[in-house]
Amino acid sequence: MAQPVVELDRVGKTYYNGDVETPVLFDISFSIVPGEFVAIVGGSGSGKTTLLNLMGLLDRPTAGVIRVESQEVSQLDELERAKARRDRLGFIFQFHYLLPEFTVLENALMPCRMRGREFEKSQEPRMRELLKAVGLEDKLKVRPPQLSGGQQQRVAVVRSLANEPAVVFADEPTGNLDSKSGRLVFDLMKRLSRESGTAFVMVTHDDNFALEADRVIRIRDGRLVGAPTGLKGGE
Ligand SMILES: Nc1ncnc2c1ncn2[C@@H]1O[C@H](COP(=O)(O)OP(=O)(O)O)[C@@H](O)[C@H]1O
Ligand SMILES: [Mg+2]
Repeated sequence: MAQPVVELDRVGKTYYNGDVETPVLFDISFSIVPGEFVAIVGGSGSGKTTLLNLMGLLDRPTAGVIRVESQEVSQLDELERAKARRDRLGFIFQFHYLLPEFTVLENALMPCRMRGREFEKSQEPRMRELLKAVGLEDKLKVRPPQLSGGQQQRVAVVRSLANEPAVVFADEPTGNLDSKSGRLVFDLMKRLSRESGTAFVMVTHDDNFALEADRVIRIRDGRLVGAPTGLKGGE
């Protein structure tokens, strides 16, 4: 079996703010294999964003172990975590976070720029191809404020793949879009995942999207519902 890209072993998370303890996640174990498209669903406040932030090395668990590409991430210092985030993980959020003063192509290449101009140049042909693949070939030199919400989010999807990550984490990426644009963005994520072999972990409120994922992870009050196997389903 393929080595998992992400593994969680009895992960828990409690937020501490002064004297206030907020336990949010309990005993979460599952793994994501390469190329898998996983949907995370659950009610508001159930802990979906917290879970994604832990897997994306944006926050630290208070119990259990997380491994990214077999590396136990609690062993990494902040600099190594930032490097792993930059080089091995991609992110898409509900809001696109594109930089308004840069063009579409420059925005898509921004994660490469952080690795140096040479590297950015080397990735430009690939990013042009990807922008073309999502129907934005005539928008390369346009700035994000001139695009529709759906087009902006398509740029964000392409940007998430800039450093050829092992896995992309998407937190309600269609939550801010009308249903037609949302569908387009979802279909693009699925297609790009398949074509590039990149695993996607997407939080969604939309049951229709969840039904089309390789696997659904349900979370209720911070606990997994059912027992996901960690095997790639649906194929
Ligand atoms: N930084 C924080 N400090 C304290 N509690 C938090 C913090 N972030 C989130 N929470 C709480 O954790 C729970 C889960 O939040 P979240 O992961 O954002 O849920 P979801 O994304 O499923 O809506 C909520 O009760 C929320 O209020
Ligand atoms: Mg959330």
